Amino acid sequence: MTDPSTFVVRAAQLLTMPFDAPSLPHYDPTRIEDRDREITGLIEDGCVFVKKGEVAFVGPWADRPQAAKDDKLPLMETKVGMPGWVECHTHAVFAGHRADEFVLRNAGRPYVEILEAGGGILNTMQALRKTNEAELSQSLMTHVLEFVRQGVTTVEVKSGYGLSRKHELKSLRAVKSVAGDAPCEVVGTFLGAHAFPPEHRSNPEAYVDIVCNDMIPAVAEEQLADYVDVFCDRGAFDVEQSRRVLETGREHGMIPRIHADEITNAGAARLAAEIGCASADHLEFTPDQDIEAMAEAGVTAVLMPAVNLFLGTIDHMARGRFILNSGCEVALSTDFNPGSAMTYDLGMMTTFGCTLYKFTPGESLRAVTAGAAKAMARDDIGTIKVGTRANLALFDVPDYKYIPYHFGASHVEATIQDGQFVFWTDATDEF
Ligand code: NIG
Ligand code: FE
Repeated sequence: MTDPSTFVVRAAQLLTMPFDAPSLPHYDPTRIEDRDREITGLIEDGCVFVKKGEVAFVGPWADRPQAAKDDKLPLMETKVGMPGWVECHTHAVFAGHRADEFVLRNAGRPYVEILEAGGGILNTMQALRKTNEAELSQSLMTHVLEFVRQGVTTVEVKSGYGLSRKHELKSLRAVKSVAGDAPCEVVGTFLGAHAFPPEHRSNPEAYVDIVCNDMIPAVAEEQLADYVDVFCDRGAFDVEQSRRVLETGREHGMIPRIHADEITNAGAARLAAEIGCASADHLEFTPDQDIEAMAEAGVTAVLMPAVNLFLGTIDHMARGRFILNSGCEVALSTDFNPGSAMTYDLGMMTTFGCTLYKFTPGESLRAVTAGAAKAMARDDIGTIKVGTRANLALFDVPDYKYIPYHFGASHVEATIQDGQFVFWTDATDEF
């Protein structure tokens, strides 16, 4: 019997998403096809030979090695194949919902005012504190499975609705337990510095002390998070508090990332460049020179258009095209959370990448694969290369451009994680 994680994929279009793709700072609308070819590593009639769950060959079908020509090996034929998608920024471990605030916001109450009045993140905090770890794991698993259906093979999940040692640890333990059971990779981020909880509202520095002296060492001790994140903005943490949290996280082995300049120009992207965060996320109010500093420092820009669409702040979108032209690697993410982006639809983010940021289809698809991997400081996901685990997303579409074009519908035919089919449609059943 053949090993079930050994098989051959033949794709009419294979997008390998090479990590070292040349950045093309000056976008030329007359060269879109060429640019896409370069940055996606597009191969017409491509082949991936998966051996024991690992990529053993990637290249043109005609060049496949002898071992991949064995008739007894299962052959999966698809139209468009690419690396498994990477959802690099979610707040998927939460309880309750905030539909009432959605209504309030649409009636004119700004997001930050709701937070300052004790709602928003603090509303979800109240709900999460009443929820036990098993319940959190259960709801997180539901969310993660929704991502897997979309071709996602890595999901990042931030804490940040506990806001006390006990509840932050509970949240991250739920993430860890789901990581052990989920049919995709799930990675935790410590975001204890997401908001000031009511008990520390009058003495914010005392809360920063707790985050740094108490929570971070405890999270590190239990190895609950690969990343440390902070919400650096008006109504949240200032630059000096953020610096302290991120530096302390780094001293404890976590990679720093940051929620940057979502509501105001808080100097957060500049801080990201200064201390070398893997990513700066949001960037709606970041000035030009700070974007340029990020590009210089190799900080990946994570753009999350659902937030602006959901909060109704489309007049303050991040300037995606400018950010890409500045030389930053860009990732697209849903920012899935109950407050500012209650959606799983990462595919739709590739559409908004094209329509609102003016990315090419290849740029948008790169932003949910190689770009998102870079936001997580990873070089083993988001790309198809020999020697890495075989994480693939296969799509039943006539052309890769069709994915952002036909929005709001799922085109995934199969999701493959570590060489295992973790999601498939009827079309793939006989495989
Ligand atoms: O990325 N801005 C901070 N955090 C989340 C929102 C969290 C919430 O509103 O619950 C964000 O937008
Ligand atoms: Fe976020």
